[in-house]
Amino acid sequence: MTSLADQAIIWRDNHLVLLDQRKLPNKIQFIECSLVKEVITAIKDMVVRGAPAIGIAAAYGVVLAARACFIDSPNYWKQCIEADLQSLYQARPTAANLQWVISRMRDAIMRIEQEDPTIVLLQVAKEIHQQDIQANQAIGDYGAQLIQSNSNVLTHCNAGALATGGYGTALGVIRSAYAQNKIKNIYADETRPWFQGTRLTAWELLQDNIPVTLICDSAAAAVMRYKKLAWVIVGADRIARNGDAANKIGTYSLAIIAKQHGVKFMVAAPTNTIDMQTSTGDNIEIEKRSRNEVIQYRKHSFGPEKAQVWNPVFDITPAELITALVTEKGVIKHPSQNKIEVLMQS
Ligand code: MRU
Repeated sequence: MTSLADQAIIWRDNHLVLLDQRKLPNKIQFIECSLVKEVITAIKDMVVRGAPAIGIAAAYGVVLAARACFIDSPNYWKQCIEADLQSLYQARPTAANLQWVISRMRDAIMRIEQEDPTIVLLQVAKEIHQQDIQANQAIGDYGAQLIQSNSNVLTHCNAGALATGGYGTALGVIRSAYAQNKIKNIYADETRPWFQGTRLTAWELLQDNIPVTLICDSAAAAVMRYKKLAWVIVGADRIARNGDAANKIGTYSLAIIAKQHGVKFMVAAPTNTIDMQTSTGDNIEIEKRSRNEVIQYRKHSFGPEKAQVWNPVFDITPAELITALVTEKGVIKHPSQNKIEVLMQS
């Protein structure tokens, strides 16, 4: 039986249904999108989040856009859809998967001739969705092979079924290793300011009866020092050609303290997160979000209004701090540009 987290993105009765991740774990509430602008808002407002999940939602968004454009102007729908593709593309700038999906959907659009585009594009969107689940299962298998029995692991943010088409990347590795009885304890960072760790990772693991221990972000160094941590396992939003990885803010500091404590550091991501056009992490655009995310919680302010806020929501972990990059095509130990080029050509 699939869990609720595996049903966070569903195409049903000609529209897109999204589990509203802002409401978890207190409320199970779904949002229905019949128009592409509703999908764009859902991505921007974090109803759906996590780089692969954003990409999959956008693929279904393209289907909705094509349907509306084709009804409006059957002869000019390809011109009409361009603005929607641009808006989807820009909805969350750091997620490589979103841009990968838009270019895959654009290729499909170019191949369509006279027919109603909805059926063809829906087929492509469903393929993207299914391929992501399969990739995550492969990532889970490869990653679990690196984990020894009785390991304590720590994860950051939510790189689980909720953040993907299903199964998860970092949580996919943890799920597979747990199923093989290799995991002693899973520590999950709360992940300020959105609390993806507390609200999403803890909920998702417990849905599958996998025990989890929550910690404040600032407790990670102490966990490494006192709890014999084997691995930090995280996902990624975009990986540059040289192996530098953008992921949820706080990942970089985890990698630094992992090095200090001799803890191994795994980045788990499908190859469509690897952006071969971007040479290093310095060239990755980091999304900045509103001050309210830092100074408020659920619209309740707890900091002085006059305080300035800097809220970059991702940071870059340099390749040299990464022990293993785990993809659906295999594992790269100590990633570098050469090794990534070989993997991408395989
Ligand atoms: O801001 P979010 O919640 O979209 O950030 C998500 C992350 O940083 C994840 O770790 C990343 O997208 C990988 S998800 C498989």
